[in-house]
Amino acid sequence: MKKKLVFLTGAGISAESGITTFRDSGGLWEQYRVEDVASIEGYYRNPELVTNFYNERRNQLMEVEPNEAHRLVAKLEEKYDVCVVTQNVDDLHERAGSTNIIHLHGELRKITSSRNPNDPSQIETLPEGRSITYPDDRARDGSPARPFIVWFGEPVPMIEAAAEQVGTADILVVIGTSLNVYPAAGLLNYARSDAQIYLIDPSPANVPQYMNIHIIAKKASEGMRQLCDEL
Ligand code: OAD
Repeated sequence: MKKKLVFLTGAGISAESGITTFRDSGGLWEQYRVEDVASIEGYYRNPELVTNFYNERRNQLMEVEPNEAHRLVAKLEEKYDVCVVTQNVDDLHERAGSTNIIHLHGELRKITSSRNPNDPSQIETLPEGRSITYPDDRARDGSPARPFIVWFGEPVPMIEAAAEQVGTADILVVIGTSLNVYPAAGLLNYARSDAQIYLIDPSPANVPQYMNIHIIAKKASEGMRQLCDEL
């Protein structure tokens, strides 16, 4: 039986593809106020601003490609039973070929109902090539169509599925996350005490010493190459 390898990824894995992270210097949260563009109150206050913010993110996503780190994560499916738990709303893991992905914070290429955002029957993928939505677009239930993004203060429906994956991992690899945002950051606590844990990040977050985490303080691609050699 293949060993279980779980990745927990954040914005840093997509940085080398050209997608701006959130909290690094020059990051998105220096350019926008989180409460304006990533909260339900911000959306009620100014749907146009929020719609445009996600349109820009989608336009950017259409111009970039997965990088070597995404590709190496996908390639490890040849040898391991891999699950990718990602905080990213981009689709670069999918485009690199990963087949088992849990998106904790939603997906940029999808829209949903404002009334019932997590009802699967309301979630729609935008057609290939379409990156723009409008504030007066409607979801299937007739309510305003909003981005399928988990905003601050909203529940994270996929957290239990993610915790189950982390809790059964033989190897857990955390890549490119500041581990600032809960509940995602708390997933580390679900790791088995005998799991091997790696953290790949050029500026690694502080992690509990008792977990004996193997830190690879490198960018995602170089760090993934090292990981593949060490596994
Ligand atoms: P952050 O921007 O908070 O953290 C990015 C991490 O990536 C930092 O630890 C950087 O050191 C690291 N990093 C930068 N360049 C890297 C590279 N080339 N290779 C590897 N790592 C690199 O992003 P997240 O932790 O993903 O939520 O943020 C978590 C959540 O906060 C996001 O999902 C988003 C945001 O608000 C929502 O939008 C709902």
